[in-house]
Order: sequence, then C-alpha cells, then structure tokens
Amino acid sequence: MSDSPFEPDDSATDNNAGMRKGLTSYGDRGFSLFLRKAFIKGAGYTDAALERPVVGIANTGSAYNPCHGNTPQLIEAVKRGVMLAGGLAMDFPTISVHESFAAPTSMYLRNLMSMDTEEMVRAQPMDAVVLIGGCDKTVPAQLMGAASAGLPAIQLITGSMLTGSHRGERVGACTDCRRYWGKYRAGEIDAEETADVNNQLVASVGTCSVMGTASTMACIAEALGMTMPGGAAPPAVTADRIRIAEQTGAQAVRIARDRLSIDKVLTPAAFENAMRVLLAIGGSTNGIVHLAAIAGRMGLDVDLHALDRMGRETPVLLDLKPSGQHYMEDFHAAGGMATLLRELKPLLHLDALTVTGRTLGEEIERAGPGFKQDVVRPAARPIYPQGGIAVLWGNLAPGGAIIKQSAADAQLMEHEGRAVVFENAEDLVARIDSDALDVTAEDVLVLRNIGPKGAPGMPEAGYIPIPRKLARAGVKDIVRISDGRMSGTAFGTIVLHVTPESAIGGPLAHVRSGDRIRLSVAHREIALLVSDDELARRARETGVPEPTAERGYRKLFLQTVTQADKGVDFDFLRAPNTVGKVPR
Ligand code: FES
Ligand code: MG
Repeated sequence: MSDSPFEPDDSATDNNAGMRKGLTSYGDRGFSLFLRKAFIKGAGYTDAALERPVVGIANTGSAYNPCHGNTPQLIEAVKRGVMLAGGLAMDFPTISVHESFAAPTSMYLRNLMSMDTEEMVRAQPMDAVVLIGGCDKTVPAQLMGAASAGLPAIQLITGSMLTGSHRGERVGACTDCRRYWGKYRAGEIDAEETADVNNQLVASVGTCSVMGTASTMACIAEALGMTMPGGAAPPAVTADRIRIAEQTGAQAVRIARDRLSIDKVLTPAAFENAMRVLLAIGGSTNGIVHLAAIAGRMGLDVDLHALDRMGRETPVLLDLKPSGQHYMEDFHAAGGMATLLRELKPLLHLDALTVTGRTLGEEIERAGPGFKQDVVRPAARPIYPQGGIAVLWGNLAPGGAIIKQSAADAQLMEHEGRAVVFENAEDLVARIDSDALDVTAEDVLVLRNIGPKGAPGMPEAGYIPIPRKLARAGVKDIVRISDGRMSGTAFGTIVLHVTPESAIGGPLAHVRSGDRIRLSVAHREIALLVSDDELARRARETGVPEPTAERGYRKLFLQTVTQADKGVDFDFLRAPNTVGKVPR
C-alpha cells in the first residue's frame, strides 16, 4: 500500500468516493487521479479541500429562465451549507427549460434535460447531488434523471414569485394572465390596461405563484421526501428560501456520508403520499404525467384506476388558485406543506423515509402544532369534497383521460353535446375566432394531434380558448377535449390526456364534427356516441400515418416517446423491469 496521495487506497471504504469517484483508469488509476487533481488544482483547490465528500449542485440558472432567477443566491447558500457540514461543493451546469422560452413546447425537452441530469450526475465525481429546479419541467426532469442515476440526491426548489398589484387587485402568474387575456379578448379591457397588467403579473423572479405545475411539483417533491421539510413553499426572494438552500447543502453532505441513495426515498409509499398530495392540493394535471415518468424510472407503473379511487376519498384542502383563491406566498405564511400534511395525516404512509433520514411522520411531528390560518382547510371543511383530478374512460379514451374537476364548471360535468372538431393546433388558430364557425355554448370542442407524438411533445394546447363569438356573448366555459395537456394554472371543463392519442390512431382521430359526445364526471365516462362498427369503418377509411422525423432529437423523440399513462418518457429511459404499481 502506497502513501502517495494519488494512489487510490484499496483498503479505504471511500475508495470510490469524493474525487476518486469514477476514475477512468485504463489500467492506471493512480495516474488518472493525479491528472484529475492537477486539473482541479488549476482552479486553486488545496489537497485538504479535495479530501472531503463532494456534493454536486445542478446549476440551472439561465437568462432564458426567470423562474430560476435566484439560482446564484441559492448556489451560494447551498455551498455555505455544504462547507459547514464538511463537504466540498461543486456546481455544474445542465439544461434549463422555461415554459415560455422552449419551442415547440417545454415538454418536448423534459426528457432531454433528464438525460443531461442523469449522465452528468453519473459522469462527474460526486457523492451526492443537489438539484436546483423550479419551473414546470425542471423538477420532474431532475427527479427522473436522479432516480436513474441512483446517487444520494436532494431537491432544492427555486420558489415561487411574489404577487403583483394591478389597479388595486392582487395578481399573479398565470391564472390571472389567462383571466386578463380573456377580458381583453372579450373586449372588457383595452390595450393600455392589458399593457399595465403585463408589468404586474410576474412581480419577481421565481415560479408561477398559483397551484400550477411548478407549485404542484414543489409540493410533490416535498411529499416524496426529496426536499428538506418546508422546502416547497417559501417564495424565491425570501430569507426562508435561502435558509432552506443552506440546510439543503448541509443535508447533502450527510446523505453522502450515510449513502442514503435515492431508491431508499422514492419507494411505492412515497409515490402514494405524492399522489395524495397532488389530489389534496388541487394540483396540476401535469403532475400525474410527471409522477408516472418518475415512477417509471423506479420500475413502477401508475395505476390510473387506483389513482381515481384514491381521488374519491381525498378532498381538496388547499385554497389556492386556480381551484381556490390564494397564492403560494399565502401557503407559505400558513405554514406550507407541514400544515397540509398534518391535515392529510390519516391518509399518508407516515413511515416513508425522507432525505433527512427521518420518516415523513417524524417530520410532521417535528413541525409542531398548527396555528390559525385560512389557506389549508380542515378535512371536515374541504374546498372540494373529492380529489382535484378525476380519471375518465370510455370508447373515446380506452387508455384513460383526465379532468381537473376542482377547476371545472360544475354545470358542465354532466353534459352531452355536438362535437366541433379541430384537426390540429394550426386548424384551431385558423378557425376558432371566425364568425363563420358553427358553434354554440352547448357544443363540445375537440382538438386532436396535440398528444405526445402528435405535436410533438404534448403541448399545453388543451386549454382551447372559448371561440371569440361565444366569449363576446359572455360564455365563460365550454366542454373541451384533446389528447394534449393544459397548464396547471388554467380553469375550465377540459378533458385532457386522451389515450391513445390521435396521431397513433386512437379513437380521437375518428371523431367528426356533428358526432355526439357524452361527458359524465360522476360516472367517470367520456363517450363518443358512435357505434363500434362505424368507428372501425372510419378507421379503415382514414389511415393515420404516424409522425416521423429525418434526424436528431426529434427522430429519437418520435421513435421512443410513450403515451401519457407512461409519463411521456422515452421507452428506453424507463427502468428495464416493472416491479410494481402505484398506488398499490
Ligand atoms: Fe416557470 Fe410558470 S413559467 S413556473
Ligand atoms: Mg405551466
């Protein structure tokens, strides 16, 4: 055994840890370590620094991503926490994806970000990783990537933006973005007021301030046990958020030392807790797709039937827009996730392990008793008696579809109407505002070819606007159906994720304008009132050519992307073996 600092010491337990991790030796590991240390010393490190556990920090700061605009401050605080706990912090860049700056849709890039995260976590020497994410697709991408990489990992949420004030009214992205744009379309406000409110909707850096996908995934990450307790709710610009970052850094060193790998946290019990929370917060429908993708990385399939059963016994307790009235900063002031989890306790698996090394139940106890607040309702007085999301089946969606019932018009949840079909997003743009469009408030708008392969990337185009002539007449909601997704910040009677999608020949491809469609949320049904024979005849008549691409990422995407029920992940990224179902 050599005393050389460059000789990997075979007797040491940390022989494959810290800077020694993943040495590409080609027969001479000593030389490999010698080279690695020479290069890192070029940045001014001492040997003493390099002997510590290494915590990687996935830096997703980007000028294109204002939802991650506090990343520099977060990294500084994480590094402080890592150093206080005796580790060495190394931040590294990965892809960053923002909802408004990623064409054709951010969802198209989520899997790419997950691959980047997975491979960089695996490739570079680190004993644990802190994942800094916030905007809709980043947290799921990071959890997917980290789940596959298998290292100890901890999620740090960037935090929500502050709310703004427009002419005396409190506003925040992006439920209010839609509301004000709707007013503008209906001619209720002029261009000047529209420009004014545009300055107020996003009042600071940070993620959307309502229970959209970003807030949903923040709550889900905490429910999964992947963040520090209280890690979901603090707004981006608060001292609380920075303190969470410092604690996250310190905890990352402990999970590195304890080898608390991510598979010990992302268990079936953790996913069930996350599903309960998704239902109880009136969370974004996108949360289901992302949970299915993360679970798939652990070899777990999401069972939509069981999720729906779970939904029937899980009330919506969180009073946040779009289902309720408050914003994320109010949730934080009301105690954040601890307040919600305390209320949900009878429905949770309290023995699920979290990144703190303690169970979820222990963390709920440590958070102490609650206090008087009006953002999280008691279970006896819910916002909505059932979970926010219901799963629908029928001949139009043999693989299932979903509706966010807590954000829909109660009067339209049992409805039969005439289909008005739009072939794709372009057709919708061309005709939706035409005065010649044959449409009434009783009709059912159908938009196809916006599924995983159809668009591609399953864009949030499922929030079909109210046709202009109906909007002007004061119509606020209409039944809408598509194979796409919608923003978690949207409101309406909108059936989404119709599976299988139309681009691969699902029944949605064969709906014709004038057909009758029945929606019954009570019976969990979405039915096309056309006979099986007629549907089969239409399928024979109109072949559906599957979308293809010549080269590049788009080709990979179209060849391997799965349907909504499998999380729209690439088939080769899922765990090779299915080991179970969630909920069980
Ligand atoms: Fe980033 Fe809404 S756009 S969270
Ligand atoms: Mg969104």
